[in-house]
Amino acid sequence: MIAKGIMLGPDQPMILHLLDIEPASKSLEAVKMELQDSAFPLLQGVIATTNADEACKDVNIAILIGGFARKEGMERKDVMSKNAVIYKAQASALERYASDDCKVLVVANPANTNALILKEFAPSIPEENITCLTRLDHNRAQARLAEKLSVPVSSVKNVIVWGNHSSTQYPDTNHATVSTKTGDKPVKELVADQEWLKNEFIEEVQERGAAIIRARRLSSALSAASAACDHIHDWFIGTPKGNWVSMGVCSDGSYGIPPGLVYSFPVICEKGSWKIVQGLSIDGFSREKMDDSARELAEEKALAYSCLNV
Ligand code: LMR
Repeated sequence: MIAKGIMLGPDQPMILHLLDIEPASKSLEAVKMELQDSAFPLLQGVIATTNADEACKDVNIAILIGGFARKEGMERKDVMSKNAVIYKAQASALERYASDDCKVLVVANPANTNALILKEFAPSIPEENITCLTRLDHNRAQARLAEKLSVPVSSVKNVIVWGNHSSTQYPDTNHATVSTKTGDKPVKELVADQEWLKNEFIEEVQERGAAIIRARRLSSALSAASAACDHIHDWFIGTPKGNWVSMGVCSDGSYGIPPGLVYSFPVICEKGSWKIVQGLSIDGFSREKMDDSARELAEEKALAYSCLNV
């Protein structure tokens, strides 16, 4: 998708730097060979390496998809401490070698907290350049509403995913609309069953990642890759007028979310910058859900920092 120009547009040439761990070096080399054999017009080079410093050298965009997946019998703290170590190392490599304008998207779980660790250990990367992926959840919410209402997915806009990329995330439909022949209509008006919106819908989006894992015994792949492309595309190229998307970004205190957390907010993007959408009304139901997710992130942060002894 990246090499075909889906992420950065049809006129943006690129060099891909691919990083993997030593045991995967053969497969990594094969990916490089296949990329070359595809003769993508935009692809000006491929660097495949198991050395993080080499991989990070002069990169303008870093998409971090590597992490330690939870295995049977592992405690949450064990997973967190493994990922904390990985993200500390990647942060140091980016800090030393990436381009000054490098923008970072963390995909690997726990994505919000991995991004926070990265921010801690790559202090020269401006904090607004460090983000995590919640676009997958945003896209899932949009798709589920389109299915429920039997409308094209492209007609649904302005859902919001607040919080953590975990089962405490809050997919909020209070401001979402559907474009119809007679103008934009609020989703809340079109979905007759408000109980469905408050219960089943939220749970389905929150649990969709787990449902994919149950179905294919592996984490989401295509939809996660596509969402990562959407995230970078909109960040660099901009969100369409009147539309917002969800991104995990460093909280500035907006909507009462404590600064110092990487939290998913509705954002609009223009020319490589994002801005949190301000002034949205938040009802009591939303407030509670948004705070629950913030609380979970604060706990994850404390756990991560205890693993790193900072
Ligand atoms: C997803 O949302 O599909 C993944 O983050 C799930 C996971 O735990 O890998």
